[in-house]
Amino acid sequence: MNVYDSDRMTDVLAPLGYAPTDQVDDADMVILNTCHIREKASEKVFSELGRLRQLQQRAADQQGRRLTIAVAGCVAQAEGEEITRRAPWVDIVVGPQTYHRLPELVGKVDPASRQRAIDTDFPEEVKFDFLPGEHAPRGPAAFLSVQEGCDKFCAFCVVPYTRGAEFSRPVDTVLAEARRLVATGTREVTLLGQNVNAYHGETNGGNIWGLGRLIRELADIDGLDRIRYTTSHPLDMDDDLIAAHGDVPQLMPYLHLPIQSGSNHILREMNRRHDRDVYLALIDRLRAVRPDIAMSGDFIVGFPGESDRDFADTLSLVNAVGYASAYSFKYSPRPGTPAATTDQQVPEVVKSERLESLRQLLNAQQLAFNKTTEGLVVDVLVERAGGRAGQMAGRSPYMQAINFDGTADQIGKILSCRLSAARQNSMRGEIIDLKGAA
Ligand code: 5AD
Ligand code: SF4
Repeated sequence: MNVYDSDRMTDVLAPLGYAPTDQVDDADMVILNTCHIREKASEKVFSELGRLRQLQQRAADQQGRRLTIAVAGCVAQAEGEEITRRAPWVDIVVGPQTYHRLPELVGKVDPASRQRAIDTDFPEEVKFDFLPGEHAPRGPAAFLSVQEGCDKFCAFCVVPYTRGAEFSRPVDTVLAEARRLVATGTREVTLLGQNVNAYHGETNGGNIWGLGRLIRELADIDGLDRIRYTTSHPLDMDDDLIAAHGDVPQLMPYLHLPIQSGSNHILREMNRRHDRDVYLALIDRLRAVRPDIAMSGDFIVGFPGESDRDFADTLSLVNAVGYASAYSFKYSPRPGTPAATTDQQVPEVVKSERLESLRQLLNAQQLAFNKTTEGLVVDVLVERAGGRAGQMAGRSPYMQAINFDGTADQIGKILSCRLSAARQNSMRGEIIDLKGAA
């Protein structure tokens, strides 16, 4: 979501003459787009701001120019005051709901009078209505935000506070953005939302569409060859969305469906509103319609009150599912969330031990999954140059990173590729069908 938001900030600042640069030393403005989900991400902002202060000072001393520093995103939203207190050299603080106002905010900044601009409103207007339609090409695989915010209030999570209540973009604006992406060379979109499968967008005719219906409509766009979505809540996997995995060929056989814990007791304490059996039954249904679907998830270890037995339930759930990939985190108490203030916090060493054993299991599953795909011939969307000279990189339908010998003119093509060797985090591939390449 932050990658998408950063692109949109670029769009909204383009009319002022700003363009993105890789050379931070030459920049007139640096925008830190920040994440508040765990403490580590949050704290990074302050160390980064320390570095930027030196850059700002150097620009002033050596070139006599002013470097504008902005903090955007969820840390800005949640800790705007703290930022201006700890880092008074910051000029702009802007939350995720108000970055369409960046041009205005830039105009307000006046270093001479130490005038800053701070905007962390939850505004009435919808930012998407104020973002430019035109934008630079986003590449073969692009993000498209369709839903924001969350009403689920999991006991560990800051999202409902930083991103606000659930909001779905209207169907027609989503379709228009998808068509524009395709017109500028995009072939794969990942539909984004903090709780994307809670999508309930209005059509021009006043109907409400769920995510499954939206995906079916997107699949009709000529040139939109691949569709993904992230991140989902198990309770919002409705029948139509599950069915879409079976009957929409453009919907890729990969699903990131976090459960967070395998223990029913902890799931209850987390306010996840479902138990492990509901989750396992969903996966059975998904596999019934799409047997090769690759599953991904998120796990939190050391949630308050998590016992050895609870953790063992997480390991058993992971074993029951068999993940193609997954993310795992130590529980991080977040200010303002109910779980942060309970007195049953799990000691750091226990969290570390559990994280280590969970990661071992998940890594083994990922490698095992990759090995099951060895020898398969799959479509690869070529996205970029690879790490080494002469190598290109793309993704398989299962979201695996694929590296193969190729050339830059293949970027944006979907090529037949034999998956020749499994690695932990990627696959080696060989392009086998250059003639039929589309
Ligand atoms: N501590 C650790 N992990 C968290 N996540 C969200 N909040 C926390 C927290 N307080 C994880 C969840 C979520 C992912 C985006 O981040 O696993 O799915
Ligand atoms: Fe956070 Fe996801 Fe729970 Fe919403 S559903 S509160 S975003 S973990």
